[in-house]
Amino acid sequence: MSLIVKTFTGPGMAQYKDDLARLRITVFRDFPYLYEGTMAYEASYLQRYVDCPECLFVLVFDGEKVVGASTALPMDYEADEFKKPFIDNGFDVRDVFYFGESVLLPEYRGQGIGHRFFDEREAFARSFGRFELTTFCAVERPTDHPLRPAKYRPHDEFWRKRGYEKRPELATTFDWQDVDQPAETAHPMVFWTRALGA
Ligand SMILES: CC(C)(COP(=O)(O)OP(=O)(O)OC[C@H]1O[C@@H](n2cnc3c(N)ncnc32)[C@H](O)[C@@H]1OP(=O)(O)O)[C@@H](O)C(=O)NCCC(=O)NCCS
Repeated sequence: MSLIVKTFTGPGMAQYKDDLARLRITVFRDFPYLYEGTMAYEASYLQRYVDCPECLFVLVFDGEKVVGASTALPMDYEADEFKKPFIDNGFDVRDVFYFGESVLLPEYRGQGIGHRFFDEREAFARSFGRFELTTFCAVERPTDHPLRPAKYRPHDEFWRKRGYEKRPELATTFDWQDVDQPAETAHPMVFWTRALGA
């Protein structure tokens, strides 16, 4: 199958907002996110990105269908709970470029799209010439979580190979409803960072 990768900045992707919302709900339902997503939550979450002229969307198409997506934007535009650990640890958030999700439907994985998401976002961040660091965060789940599939493989090795370092001191929590919970709970999230370089 031939996949097409296209990039958009925030307002340019408004027409794909619902596609991305559906994709996030589908992919993040699986471990480790276990996200019981709703279109209403997605609409408000994604609006911050769509409104941001310095936000990048990398969309993957199989024909007309959006099958994968990745996002990135300056940390300055992000929610306070994401900025706070950086501020508390003496960073200037204006130096930091934040990577949001990478989501790809399972049948399209293992063809290098995950690498492409990093390549596109790092190149975009570098193109501004004013950022020192790229970062993303990942949810922390206990290794004995009852919903962890036996064959689950964490992304840590992939991320390390991409030059990212786990930074336990840069931690936050983010609320959402898990598929096995009756209401939202707080989820521990830890950031990974990489110096952007020239
Ligand atoms: C993250 C994701 C987009 C990567 O997609 P992908 O196109 O399969 O990635 P690639 O083909 O570029 O492979 C990237 C690396 O991950 C490794 N990998 C492959 N399958 C994996 C798996 N099930 N678990 C962990 N790593 C895996 C590959 O070996 C590859 O490393 P290599 O270059 O050393 O061989 C996809 O796995 C996904 O949507 N996962 C669910 C959502 C998620 O967890 N997103 C990340 C946080 S937002």
